[in-house]
Amino acid sequence: MKSFRQLIMLLLLLGGFLTEQPVTQASAQEPTGTAIADMQMLNWQEKMPGVWSAVIGKPEELTYLSFAGGPPRISALEKMPTQKFPLSQQDCRGLIVNNRAVIRIPLTPAEKLYGLGLQFEGLNRRGRVFHLRVDHYSRGQERTHAPVPFYISSLGYGVLFNSARFMSIYAGVGNRKDSPNLPTIRDRNTNRNWQAQPDSDAVETCVIAEGMEVLVFAGPTPLDVVRRYNLYCGGGCLPPKWGLGFWHRMRTNATDQEVQNEVAQFNQRRFPLDVIGLEPGWHSKSYPCTYAWNEKNFPQPAAFLKSMQEQGIYINLWENPYVSPDASFYNIIKPFCGSHMVWLGMVPDYTLAPAREILTSHHGKNHLTLGVSGYKIDEVDGFDNWLWPDHAVFPSGTSAEQMRQTYGLQWQKMLTALFRKRNQRTFGQIRASNAAASAYPFVIYSDHYDHQGFVTALVNSGFAGVLWAPEIRNAKSSTEWVRRMQSVCFSHLTQLNGWANNTKPWSFLEVEDEIREVTQLRTRLLPYLYTAYAKYHFEGTPPIRAMVLEPGYHPQETVKAGELDDVNNPYAMAIRKDVTDQFMMGDCLLVAPIFTGQKNRSVILPQGKWFDFYTGDYAGSAEVITVEPPLSKIPLFVKNGGIIPMIEPANRISKLKPPVKLIVRHYGTNPGQSQLYDDDGLTFDYEQGNYCWHNLEVTKNATSELTGNHKMQSGTWKITYSPISWKFMTK
Ligand code: GAL
Repeated sequence: MKSFRQLIMLLLLLGGFLTEQPVTQASAQEPTGTAIADMQMLNWQEKMPGVWSAVIGKPEELTYLSFAGGPPRISALEKMPTQKFPLSQQDCRGLIVNNRAVIRIPLTPAEKLYGLGLQFEGLNRRGRVFHLRVDHYSRGQERTHAPVPFYISSLGYGVLFNSARFMSIYAGVGNRKDSPNLPTIRDRNTNRNWQAQPDSDAVETCVIAEGMEVLVFAGPTPLDVVRRYNLYCGGGCLPPKWGLGFWHRMRTNATDQEVQNEVAQFNQRRFPLDVIGLEPGWHSKSYPCTYAWNEKNFPQPAAFLKSMQEQGIYINLWENPYVSPDASFYNIIKPFCGSHMVWLGMVPDYTLAPAREILTSHHGKNHLTLGVSGYKIDEVDGFDNWLWPDHAVFPSGTSAEQMRQTYGLQWQKMLTALFRKRNQRTFGQIRASNAAASAYPFVIYSDHYDHQGFVTALVNSGFAGVLWAPEIRNAKSSTEWVRRMQSVCFSHLTQLNGWANNTKPWSFLEVEDEIREVTQLRTRLLPYLYTAYAKYHFEGTPPIRAMVLEPGYHPQETVKAGELDDVNNPYAMAIRKDVTDQFMMGDCLLVAPIFTGQKNRSVILPQGKWFDFYTGDYAGSAEVITVEPPLSKIPLFVKNGGIIPMIEPANRISKLKPPVKLIVRHYGTNPGQSQLYDDDGLTFDYEQGNYCWHNLEVTKNATSELTGNHKMQSGTWKITYSPISWKFMTK
């Protein structure tokens, strides 16, 4: 006999069957929003030459572009080649569905995609899904310190999804059922070419929001795309000259006397030193922070800073944003803070002007007027278990999610404005950033400690309008110490971070000379590097760039006769892969770091001849070479006709007073032409024309003799360098 429960179930089922509707025409119809045809065609407006914008739905007020960045550098954008809209307008579509704003941008089969922020793995982003969210990077995660939602296509256009939300980007992943370009279905039973992930013909992006803006940047080359993006965001930052020197961070809890001793040791050992960073311990309390001097460690901060200034040393202060109840401004900032605390400190909402005013007036009065040159803003990125939760509430009404995506930008914006008010340039560090940050003078860093990942991030930073520097703290061997230090010297910020281990550049005594040599080389390159940053600022060209952005890297005819394999076509094979371990720095220098455990490495030299930086000897052209450099040398190559202006070794950039002797190196057999930028290196007076560009030119006469000339081109600044002599490196 059936139980009572079974009987009820039977009745319910029967009822369901009897009430079920017959299948009608209407219910078989596809719901709207599932076909490409249902998606709205985007309506593009040209905002600036070669930059178009379109929206879907109602975009929010707080976006990366509305919040961050400087005014677009219009005159530089106008000088770029005129371009038509680079995509098929018909195929750029958008849709609001399931509380999401969705944008679809078409892709063609062979296209590669670069960018999507500060990534530590690979170069080509096609074929992966990115859940972009600010976080401290951990291996294998797509969360990163700067998840910039901007990509560059190998076909020479770029796309920025301008929403300050957590964002999912399906970069050539997923196929719509009505796509006109679906790949052929292959039968896995019989076809060996069956793919677990069939190619897709679009990038689809979504955010949980009522709308989103999308921008397209024209080329024609991928480098032009990056340049347009940077110029649109205000141009790259121009660091003060001292920022390009050597930085050293003290151990936590160091005292003023220890700093003095450390500086004295740098002097004795003849190591360059420009900036000292103070770590936790300079505040009276940290985690959460008071932002007030610790009287025990720094009893007389004003006298300490004055003494540092006299010695030509700039002081950078570590901080995190979380305000201690013992901070002097705790009570007045409290109403402008979020619902949740971090390390039991308040989290101010710096989208609000009064909160910014409270912090900057405190910093101005207690730090900047005493001589502090900048900050390292720590822990603005994550991890999840440290930061505020996604449901936290902030007084401006900014969501916790938007707060997380923009908190690093908020700090950069606030501090940049503070220094600018004093007509003083700063250069600092930040652990989170995002889109539209090109103009901010901050370099991203990480606790992550993988040498190869560091260099990959350096290469990728050039696609994202951010600066990044590998960390050096310690090493397991003296060889590793040298190789890491060399990479740091060829990055955006040359710093030894001794906070945890109290390490010094000479901590491995047996390689003291090698370390001195490379840190001095960094300083000697100052005129070359400073010019590279001026080009970042005025022209948008990233000072450190991936090889794929280098002309001559992808020559038309890469495949020579024979099979496409490593034996017959090593160059064509090498450039097919993601090249993450070598890059361009400035106009003409190719850097190929050596990693721990490597004795030699292969280097891809693009078309055109390349020469060894140290000897001037010919190294190769459109080929893959193997190098086995001595420990003291990081492999460096210069393009044919390359010109590199350098100074003599100098232990303090701030002590370089005109006239400073300049040696201009020329490499190869071709004539060459290059520019040299100069200004006071400290203020914003260059914005009023107080700078100069000099033309450096090498000509060749009938008997192939090379001669170097320099000529002032523009500006009013009297160049720091004199005399200017030439050195022809290639014999
Ligand atoms: C870490 C930071 C380090 C160091 C340390 C001090 O979060 O990444 O560079 O500053 O804090 O506590």
